[in-house]
Amino acid sequence: MDFQTKPLTPHFGVDVTGIALEEVTSENGFAQIRALFEEHSALLFRAQEISDAKHLELAQLFGPIEDRQADERKPGEAFEIPKVSNVLEDGTTSAEMDLKTLNLKSNFLWHSDSTFLPVPSLVNILIGRVVTTDGGATELASTRAAWAMMPETLKAKVRGRGIWHRYSHSRRKISPELAELPMFNKWPDTHWNAVWENPVNGREALYIASHAFKIDGYDEAESQVLLDELTAFCTQPAFVYSHTWSVGDVLLWDQRAVMHRGTPWPYEQPRTLSSICSSVTEADGLDRIRVPT
Ligand code: OGA
Ligand code: MN
Repeated sequence: MDFQTKPLTPHFGVDVTGIALEEVTSENGFAQIRALFEEHSALLFRAQEISDAKHLELAQLFGPIEDRQADERKPGEAFEIPKVSNVLEDGTTSAEMDLKTLNLKSNFLWHSDSTFLPVPSLVNILIGRVVTTDGGATELASTRAAWAMMPETLKAKVRGRGIWHRYSHSRRKISPELAELPMFNKWPDTHWNAVWENPVNGREALYIASHAFKIDGYDEAESQVLLDELTAFCTQPAFVYSHTWSVGDVLLWDQRAVMHRGTPWPYEQPRTLSSICSSVTEADGLDRIRVPT
C-alpha cells in the first residue's frame, strides 16, 4: 500500500492518508499499520467508510477481541460492537446525572483501558459514528515520550515497583453509586509493573491509569498523590494530542504507551463512538509488566 504520514504532534502519533481501512487485510497493508503503531503509538485515519464487520476484522489483526460482557451474554448471543455513547434505546440522550452519563464522565479521567482486566488491552480502535458540534474531543497523552523526559527524581519514585489497578476505583472518583454496580466489580485487583518496555523497539513507557490505586511501598493516600503527580507530568500539553471528531474518523492507539480521556460536550447532543479493544498477548510484551510473585 502506498500511504503517507504526517505527525500529529512533535513527540508521537501520525495522521495516515492513502489507506482505505475497508481494504486492509493481513496480506494487504496490516504489516505497515502494525509497524506504524509500534513506532508512533497513535494512528489517525480520517474520512473512512468502514463497516462494523471490518472494524472487528481490523481489531482481530491486532489481537484477541476483548469482551467484557462475555459472562453476561446468553449462549448463542453474538458479540456486539461496544459503543461509547449517550444515546438510549429510544433514541433520546441520557441526562447529565444518569449513571450512563456518569460512566462516560469517568472516561474524562486520564486512563489506559482495561488495566484492571486479567489480560489488559493492547489497542483501542475508535470510530466516530455520531459526533457533536461542540466539545467531545478525545485526547491522547504519550507516556512513552513523557517517561523519556521525566526528571530522574520522579522516575525513581516508581521504577521497579508494581502498581495495583481496580475498575471501581476510577468510577468511585465520579460517583460512589456508579462504583457499586456489578459490572465494575467483576475482576480481582490486578498488579502490573509501573514501566512497560516495548518488545519491538525497547522503548519504555509509564503504565498508569485512573484505575490505579496503590503503588508498592506507599500507602493508598501516598500512592494517589504520586499517581496524580505522574499523571500531571505525562499529560502536559507537549505530550498530548487532542482529536476533534468527524464522522468516519478512525483513531487507534497503543495502550501500553498512551493514556487517553474524553472531554465534555453538551449532553443533550448525541455522541457515539464505536470502540473495539484487542487484548495483549505474550508477543506484545505482557511478560514485561507481570510482577514476580
Ligand atoms: C474509550 C474512551 C473517551 C471518549 O473509548 O475507552 O475512554 O472520548 N473514550 O469517549
Ligand atoms: Mn477509555
